[in-house]
Amino acid sequence: MRILLIGPPGAGKGTQAARLAAHLSIPHISTGDLFREHIDQGTELGQNALTHIRGGFLVPDEVTTGVIKECLARPDTERGFLLDGFPRNLAQAKALDGILADSESRLDAVLDLEIPEDQVVSRIAGRRLCRQDREHIFHVDYSPPEVAGVCGFCGGELYQRDDDREATVRRRLEVYRTETAPVVDHYQAQGLVTTISALGQVHEVLNRALVAIGRGQVDASGTSS
Ligand code: AP5
Ligand code: MG
Repeated sequence: MRILLIGPPGAGKGTQAARLAAHLSIPHISTGDLFREHIDQGTELGQNALTHIRGGFLVPDEVTTGVIKECLARPDTERGFLLDGFPRNLAQAKALDGILADSESRLDAVLDLEIPEDQVVSRIAGRRLCRQDREHIFHVDYSPPEVAGVCGFCGGELYQRDDDREATVRRRLEVYRTETAPVVDHYQAQGLVTTISALGQVHEVLNRALVAIGRGQVDASGTSS
């Protein structure tokens, strides 16, 4: 399946994308994670991206679309993929339409995660990421690690993202409203969008997503039924 996950910062895109991608055995492609990987490796692309990410602005389209084009050319995306954080404006959506048309494929579903802004702020304030393993996302209150500051999966150090300061989060929300929300309308016109409440426990949100794409259900432990 070719799925796109969209929603404001802190809605839980990364949290759900990791679970959905594992459930469907398809790669999880997050432009935010790819940029953070470049930043950690000190590449030129990473240094360029950082200047935009720090302020809560979008990385320029030509850079972002180039990164995605490269990812979608990989053989592991032939059976499908889950895009998280791309496209983020209409120009990127049109570029994706073109990339898919060139390979005679199309999206199967767009899942739009909906969440009130006050919830976003508390989710982002408590978020912790692992420096080694980008797929596991923690929250100091909602999904705390067993040992504070340590990833329970690989033992890596947990850290807070640079762009998770309140002023930057406010800017990211504004960018979402003005630039990304129209992308939902773009795909709504193609009949692809299901809006899902991002409230409730992680497995409840996951089940809403699975229902939307016509797949099974999981229990609280993540086991399929
Ligand atoms: P990106 O990394 O994509 O950030 P974002 O869209 O702002 O979204 P987040 O990653 O902050 O939130 P999320 O929805 O993934 O939530 P999460 O699952 O972590 O992009 C960062 C920057 O990179 C952008 O600002 C931009 O500069 C640049 N960029 C990226 N893509 C780009 C593009 N296409 N074009 C241009 N620039 C681009 O969850 C948040 C917290 O909530 C976690 O702590 C989690 O544990 C907790 N949580 C999740 N679900 C639940 C739940 N159900 N209940 C309680 N807590 C929960
Ligand atoms: Mg994310």
